[in-house]
Amino acid sequence: MNTYTAEVNRIQDLTHDVRAIELRLLDPPTMSFKAGQFVSFEVPKEGQPRPVTRPYSIASPPEQQDRILLVLNLVQGGPGSSYLFSLREGERTSCKGPAGAFYLRDDGTKDLLFVATGTGIAPMRSMILTQLQRQPDRPVTLFWGLRSQRDLYWQDELAMLVAAHPRLTVVTTLSRPEPGWQGASGRVTALVEERIASVRNLAVYLCGGSGMIKDVTARINAKGLCPIYREKYYDE
Ligand SMILES: Cc1cc2nc3c(=O)[nH]c(=O)nc-3n(C[C@H](O)[C@H](O)[C@H](O)COP(=O)(O)OP(=O)(O)OC[C@H]3O[C@@H](n4cnc5c(N)ncnc54)[C@H](O)[C@@H]3O)c2cc1C
Ligand SMILES: NC(=O)c1ccc[n+]([C@@H]2O[C@H](COP(=O)([O-])OP(=O)(O)OC[C@H]3O[C@@H](n4cnc5c(N)ncnc54)[C@H](OP(=O)(O)O)[C@@H]3O)[C@@H](O)[C@H]2O)c1
Repeated sequence: MNTYTAEVNRIQDLTHDVRAIELRLLDPPTMSFKAGQFVSFEVPKEGQPRPVTRPYSIASPPEQQDRILLVLNLVQGGPGSSYLFSLREGERTSCKGPAGAFYLRDDGTKDLLFVATGTGIAPMRSMILTQLQRQPDRPVTLFWGLRSQRDLYWQDELAMLVAAHPRLTVVTTLSRPEPGWQGASGRVTALVEERIASVRNLAVYLCGGSGMIKDVTARINAKGLCPIYREKYYDE
């Protein structure tokens, strides 16, 4: 692991509480990482003498080595997300990384299923972009669970990827849609239950809260044995 000094290159508000932050690496100027890995920030926490560490997945693909993209939701009063939301374009920060065992395996023969809730999409974006380059002919499915229309982002980018890659399937499902939603409704668990016929030739990647990871793991296991790679963001 290295310590990186970086400059905030671009900030983009994606929803009412989700922000994308692009960091341009200054020293060292490039990072070599595996799709799915994370970087960590040490941030001050009120009432504590020492900083606390908060990890954030890299959402950009490893082929882009001089800049990394983070995507995170604001947790009111949370030291990690409050610190990152306080950064402004042009400001400097530092992080450690890359780290993590949740990364895209070189698993040439398997179809891939990615299941994310909320900002659990971050490592999936890096992995899917990498996989589509590596093996454009292998089937890839993404199920992404959000609450309602106001929580949607990256839908245009995903639609463009689907248009360019016939073997890519993306379903964004809303658990609490407002009237007028034409897409899938309910939790990602229901999509796994209903739309995954067999796990015989599948590798599964899960990222989000502990409840989703537990429930989806159980649904997959009930269908048979296959590799399941998991990144838990928080305990419910
Ligand atoms: C390997 C790893 C990678 C991660 N990558 C990302 C990422 O790319 N984007 C991202 O938004 N978060 C990510 N997280 C979560 C992140 O590290 C922080 O836990 C999160 O930003 C909350 O920290 P905080 O200090 O602001 O809030 P804290 O005071 O630590 O509050 C945590 C509480 O906030 C709630 N919460 C709301 N949203 C989240 C969330 N996304 N993650 C965790 N808890 C949440 C939960 O109820 C949790 O109990 C990752 C976590 C891990 C372990
Ligand atoms: N996003 C918001 O508007 C919001 C608002 C207040 C607080 N928070 C808190 O912020 C944290 C994270 O927010 P988030 O936006 O990343 O996540 P989230 O809003 O809690 O959930 C994202 C999606 O995951 C689904 N989900 C939850 N448990 C699941 C399970 N066991 N299996 C399958 N799907 C499951 C949710 O469905 P359900 O809707 O059915 O739960 C929702 O569709 C949580 O602690 C949340 O309580 C979020």
